[in-house]
Amino acid sequence: MEYTYAYFEKSARYVREKLNFQPEIGIILGSSLGPFAAQVENPVVIPYEEIPHFLRSTVATHAGKLICGTIGGKGVVCMSGRFHSYEGYDFPQLTAPIRLFKLLGCRAVILTNAAGGVNLDYKPGDIMIINDQIMFSGCSPMRGPNIPEFGPRFFDVQKMYSPRLRAIARQCAEGSGLTFHEGCYFFMQGPQFETPAEIRAIRTLGGDAVGMSTVTEALTAAHCGLPCLGFSVITNMAAGILDQPLTDEEVNEVGHLVADNFSAYLKKVLARI
Ligand code: HPA
Repeated sequence: MEYTYAYFEKSARYVREKLNFQPEIGIILGSSLGPFAAQVENPVVIPYEEIPHFLRSTVATHAGKLICGTIGGKGVVCMSGRFHSYEGYDFPQLTAPIRLFKLLGCRAVILTNAAGGVNLDYKPGDIMIINDQIMFSGCSPMRGPNIPEFGPRFFDVQKMYSPRLRAIARQCAEGSGLTFHEGCYFFMQGPQFETPAEIRAIRTLGGDAVGMSTVTEALTAAHCGLPCLGFSVITNMAAGILDQPLTDEEVNEVGHLVADNFSAYLKKVLARI
């Protein structure tokens, strides 16, 4: 498949024609963070299957719907359900969500995920504001012919997680009832959780949290010049830290426990962006 500007524009045109407002912020909700979408006022809900050239959610905990509307008067497009490399998508396909946001006219993106805590100071239920990322596995979502309408062939990613938006995220933390950290997200392709040896290596390399998403989205946002804010909900301590099995039930359970506080917090952040 050749990915061209027209290819992505076809998805955007379909969504644009269903909206009677201008979206400002694109939001991707990670595992169990779907409840945030309940805050969207006057929602227009578009199942992913309806959108031409868009991808399909194959993970049970990801709803697979675009929820468009306003939160506190601000136009948002929320993806309830995201796409991962472990589902079989290749990296260039994973550019689709952020390119859709860009083509709809969004001016910033918020990415959220569930992640394992690698930093020993973190606890399940804590939130990590992502300040940088490491992706050593696989290739770039921008591999292949460059699409200059989105951005240049070579691009700077030093401030991919916007310092200005991170400052807002820190300022809104007080009174949220949540514990915040700032750290580096380490991408692993999954779907298996990591080995204890991999987690030791990740810690040595500078990762504070580990997960199977987000990095391709952040890179796509950097490529097309969209400021990005990323959050990891630490749902479990990563492999080998505690003597207990890792399960997606645990991930979802902790995700649900913080979902209400985190949703209220995110709403506050959104009002300031
Ligand atoms: N590893 C990878 N991805 C994850 C984890 C983990 O421990 N927890 C939630 N998503």
